[in-house]
Amino acid sequence: MKNRMYCFLLLWLSIAMNAYAGQLPTSVATGLIQNPEGRNTTSLDGQWSYIIDQYETGYYNHRYEVSKSGWFKNRKMVNSWDLIEYDFSTADKINVPGDWNSQKQHMMFYEGTVWYHKDFSVNKKADKRYVVNFGAVNYQAIVYVNGEKVGSHQGGFTGFQFDITEKLKDGSNFIVVKVDNRRERNQVPTVNTDWWNYGGITRSVSLLELPGSYLADYKIQLSKKDQSVITGSFKISGKPKTGEKITLRIPELDVYKQIEVGRSGTASFNLEKQAELWSPEIPKLYQVELEYNGETIQDRIGFRTIEVDGSEIKLNGQSLYLRGISIHEESPLTNGRAWSEEDARLLLGWAKELGCNFVRLAHYPHNEFMVKVADELGLMVWSEIPVYWTLVFENEEVYVNAEQQLTEMISRDKNRASVIMWSVANETPNHEQRLNFLTDLVEKARGLDDTRLITAALDTQTSSKNGKLIDDPLANVVDVIGINAYCGWYGKKPEECSSLSWESKYLKPVIMSEFGGGALQGLHGKSNERWTEEYQAAVYEHNLQMIENFSLLRGVTPWILKDFRSPKRPLANIQDYWNRKGLLSETGEKKQAWYVLRDFYLQKQQEQTRQ
Ligand code: GCU
Repeated sequence: MKNRMYCFLLLWLSIAMNAYAGQLPTSVATGLIQNPEGRNTTSLDGQWSYIIDQYETGYYNHRYEVSKSGWFKNRKMVNSWDLIEYDFSTADKINVPGDWNSQKQHMMFYEGTVWYHKDFSVNKKADKRYVVNFGAVNYQAIVYVNGEKVGSHQGGFTGFQFDITEKLKDGSNFIVVKVDNRRERNQVPTVNTDWWNYGGITRSVSLLELPGSYLADYKIQLSKKDQSVITGSFKISGKPKTGEKITLRIPELDVYKQIEVGRSGTASFNLEKQAELWSPEIPKLYQVELEYNGETIQDRIGFRTIEVDGSEIKLNGQSLYLRGISIHEESPLTNGRAWSEEDARLLLGWAKELGCNFVRLAHYPHNEFMVKVADELGLMVWSEIPVYWTLVFENEEVYVNAEQQLTEMISRDKNRASVIMWSVANETPNHEQRLNFLTDLVEKARGLDDTRLITAALDTQTSSKNGKLIDDPLANVVDVIGINAYCGWYGKKPEECSSLSWESKYLKPVIMSEFGGGALQGLHGKSNERWTEEYQAAVYEHNLQMIENFSLLRGVTPWILKDFRSPKRPLANIQDYWNRKGLLSETGEKKQAWYVLRDFYLQKQQEQTRQ
């Protein structure tokens, strides 16, 4: 860790010098304001103008220097002889939120820069702060308000916000965003992923109106040590006056508490209260109201504990078996990035129909509706950052980026009872730089949130004489070990999997975080014929027998709920750029394997009820 701190210092010095030289974006995302949707917001969703700019003509001049009169100025022709070669007012329109690939046929494979523009008006009040909030932009965003840069962000799956008060006018304004979804080797994720690189402003945009000094962040949860104590912490932004108080109301628990704000702008409380605990069976959520300096914030919070006890995972002190399924953030309604409540209710509704109490939101933080609907439906959540496959682990900037995305993921969802574990990686190679990189990430995650479990999905198990051995040193760092293993698909025949045995060097709970196989929905044949539904069903039958013999196994999230787009899966008339490992087709048609898993979960549920 000391070594990383030293590297950090070097890195920040270089950024500071570059920023001084005007080379780098001078402002990155601020600390996230908690629960924007529960505040006074104006939606900026809807039709935006967009212009494809593959050569970044709107950003660099012909000497490849950042242009001072770029398209972000939205300059207009004044005289007939003016030369302006772009015009947002006559450009095509696109829906925000939403990726451009699934909205515009000619942009299905497009990777590069697209400029977005929207006019909006504000009745600006002198005593208020104004913050623009982006749910997510994939991959890099540079944001301008009225032609002035307000900030930049990288990372395609976490929210970010910029205080635009000084740039905002009373009345008419315009916002321009340069979005660039190019994959780069030194990014998180890196260039190689098995999912579609959907580009765009992929989640909602809103304008927050806040008091001059506001309640920026809060965390309210059950004490780790005592299920009859509710505890909470608060952070005020701006200059609180001494003696100011935050009012906390939880009407259903007869809680009405005034909490004094300290000089440092922080506050905390402990409260003896016996709340009804949140669980998959009874996903109890309490209406929580916070008031400070004239702003009222509404939230719905569930109270529960989650812990590891030896090789058990315990929710509210009860041992769990996690009946899960992996899900990509892809809408069955638009065949693009999912972003809406309707998408979330459809995807998670299918998980409930399958008999799940758990979902692995792969391989990146999903939109906020997914975790809020999971809270409501009683689905526990594995949430993950896209530290995926072969990142450049020795590069400090890559670590800073990964840590930023981890921090943003945890910041947004720390009040969601459904989220029980944070995953720091998927299928990363077993070597020293990666172990150092991920050990630091795990420590960072524990520092940010010591109430949830830390996990990672591994594909580094080695072969032992009768099967597989988990001996990756990363398994010694996390709380819960995720194992991805495709017996019967990538190697061996399905019928050879039932007898495969598993051992682990570590006495820790294990989740089989991926297994499965592909099938084209509607294609039938013998169970030894690849791509048929029968073959996929055989993969499930034999893998489910196999995991039953693994004593440390505490859950499974087979790969995957629904077929999803991938540039790595071109096989004509079978894949057609879809990864076909879904239990459902891309339009939600069930395959035979769906019923194999559903029956297995039914049996698991009956066993659990009998205990
Ligand atoms: C890997 C990976 C997934 C991928 C899957 C597959 O395990 O984690 O992202 O889609 O295998 O090969 O289909």
